[in-house]
Amino acid sequence: MKQNFDIVEKFDLWNEYCEYWIDRSPLLSQKDIQSFKDERAKADVILNGFISTYLLLSAVEMNLFDVLHETPLDLPELSERLNVPETNAYRLVYMLEKMQLVTIKEKIEVTDFAKKFFIPASNSFEPYLWPRIGFTRLFLKKYGPIFSEMVKTNVQFDEIHWPPKNEIESRNFEPIMTAEVPYLASFLSQHLLSNSQKDVTMLDVGGGDGTMASILVKKHLDLYIDILNLPSACSIIEETLSRWNTMSKITVFPANFLQDKFPQGYDKILFSRVLVDWEDAVVCMLLKKAFNALKPKGEIYILERINKPDGISRSWLTFMAMGVEAHVFARSFDEWKKLLETEGFSNISKITDGSFEGYGIIKAIKC
Ligand SMILES: C[S@@+](CC[C@H](N)C(=O)[O-])C[C@H]1O[C@@H](n2cnc3c(N)ncnc32)[C@H](O)[C@@H]1O
Repeated sequence: MKQNFDIVEKFDLWNEYCEYWIDRSPLLSQKDIQSFKDERAKADVILNGFISTYLLLSAVEMNLFDVLHETPLDLPELSERLNVPETNAYRLVYMLEKMQLVTIKEKIEVTDFAKKFFIPASNSFEPYLWPRIGFTRLFLKKYGPIFSEMVKTNVQFDEIHWPPKNEIESRNFEPIMTAEVPYLASFLSQHLLSNSQKDVTMLDVGGGDGTMASILVKKHLDLYIDILNLPSACSIIEETLSRWNTMSKITVFPANFLQDKFPQGYDKILFSRVLVDWEDAVVCMLLKKAFNALKPKGEIYILERINKPDGISRSWLTFMAMGVEAHVFARSFDEWKKLLETEGFSNISKITDGSFEGYGIIKAIKC
């Protein structure tokens, strides 16, 4: 049945079924009621997801978490600090308590869970979801009411395109990826160890804002990295290198990998979260360039999500990807292996420890 979504009062359907429910309710068994209860919890998440998102955004916008992190307050104190009537201050914290972001006793306090993801000032803060809050806010303010047009691709984000077309778009895009980089770099770093006594060179293709390379060279004193990225990302990378003081170990190589040649003669090549954006033909072309750019016995590392579950940030990206012309070609290990073999790589292995958001490494050698 086609609904008229402009009419707020949509109870026609309900009224039609009301009598049926009234007749049926005495016949409902305990089992029905139990399953209804479980399903209601699921429906709550589905229908009310927007409520938690908006509550979270208002709490962040109104500085509520920071205020309570500084000092737990009682309701009148909180209402005064936030400049909100007490009734609404109560409603807000009542709902935030359901989301396990605060506890309400004599004083209202933030939970350890809130500190972990939503309070940058806390010692236990995990930064990787934080840049998504700003983007979610922009999305809801500007694109929320026309989201179905985005699904149809009639509307796309103004702020970002894929791949980024200019420096502003690169600046909008890179932090979304960089937020996860410390976790990935720490995982990758454990598997980059070299047994050689000499310096090791690596090409980081599509190397983001340079944070990954900076963390890796800080951890591996014998490692030198060239970052290949679009010219629009290069000044951002230079800023990162200067912040990390890694300019002496990292060189920036502006290039479009679809058209330009790779620099040559590397011990290692890294594709971190790059190949997933491209169809097989482009991946093969890039793997061929990588093969040619490696020294004999050189190693390629592909870092992508290959494990299940594939993480909350994946859901967020999948949703937002409808607003850019991006494609995601999620591949299994066997699919990666086939592509690598086609381009001449051997000793193909998978390294996973299940630690972060479904990511794993596919490693292969140029023999
Ligand atoms: C999804 S991001 C991954 C960034 C980083 N490797 C990471 O794991 O955080 C993809 C990167 O590829 C770069 N990129 C996209 N198209 C490119 C092209 N044609 N040539 C060079 N770099 C490109 C983007 O600028 C971006 O830095």
